Amino acid sequence: MKKKIILKDVYKSFGEGLRVLNGISLEIEDGESRIIVGRSGCGKSVLLKCLLGIMKIDGGDILVDGIGVGDKKRFPEYMRKFSILFQGNALFDSMTVLENVTFALGRTERDKSLRKLKAEEKLAAVGLEKRVFDLYPAEISGGMQKRAALARAIAVEPEILLFDEPTSGLDPVTGGVICNLLRDTVELLGVTSVTITHDLRVAEFLSDKVSVLNEGNVVWTGHTREMETCGNEFVKNFHRASNVISKVRRN
Ligand SMILES: Nc1ncnc2c1ncn2[C@@H]1O[C@H](COP(=O)(O)OP(=O)(O)O)[C@@H](O)[C@H]1O
Ligand SMILES: [Mg+2]
Repeated sequence: MKKKIILKDVYKSFGEGLRVLNGISLEIEDGESRIIVGRSGCGKSVLLKCLLGIMKIDGGDILVDGIGVGDKKRFPEYMRKFSILFQGNALFDSMTVLENVTFALGRTERDKSLRKLKAEEKLAAVGLEKRVFDLYPAEISGGMQKRAALARAIAVEPEILLFDEPTSGLDPVTGGVICNLLRDTVELLGVTSVTITHDLRVAEFLSDKVSVLNEGNVVWTGHTREMETCGNEFVKNFHRASNVISKVRRN
């Protein structure tokens, strides 16, 4: 399989003391859905920002389809490959749901009426009803906001979808529904996806290929079902703790 994303010995620090990414290496194949899990604060969002090229790395390299993140000439081409579903959705409060999506389409679609048509099509594709299109983000539920943000992310037809904590702020039932929607969308579009989360149950919904991040490095990559019996103590503990949390939530 063709490698879509390659991280080679990537370093990122803040100030003098805080080394967040400590020589991390990672390879993701074309069409793969990879989950990256790790404790809160371990550097997952930083990793995504470095991959997107909106945060500069200190050392190493990131390649997407062979294009380096630091290649200034080809950066527009690099950037266009991605869409991200941000943790807080990042919808514009002063724009309606529909305007949020049409605005994003300004990047790729010149024709104004086509832009509107396309935006409506994407909103319908993520399961939003017409009555929601003209509402503002503050007027709709968290689940609907997630759907609107997803519609905006896929409207520009990216090759890679990035999901940052896609279930944060949602109740467990809505979180499950959204995970299913993300999985179906990724499958339907045939895109490569990278999801970062501290919640292992997200991994179980979205894909079974997981990389575990700890102390700035990938300490293990494998399938969720192998976590309990693998040789890595950190991974075993992480898996056990997640199971305990889901049991507590179920009771
Ligand atoms: N812009 C920044 N300046 C300084 N420190 C940062 C910055 N962004 C993130 N950090 C620090 O990097 C660490 C990892 O953060 P983050 O990637 O957001 O964690 P998470 O795994 O929860 O997404 C944290 O200690 C955070 O405080
Ligand atoms: Mg984060």
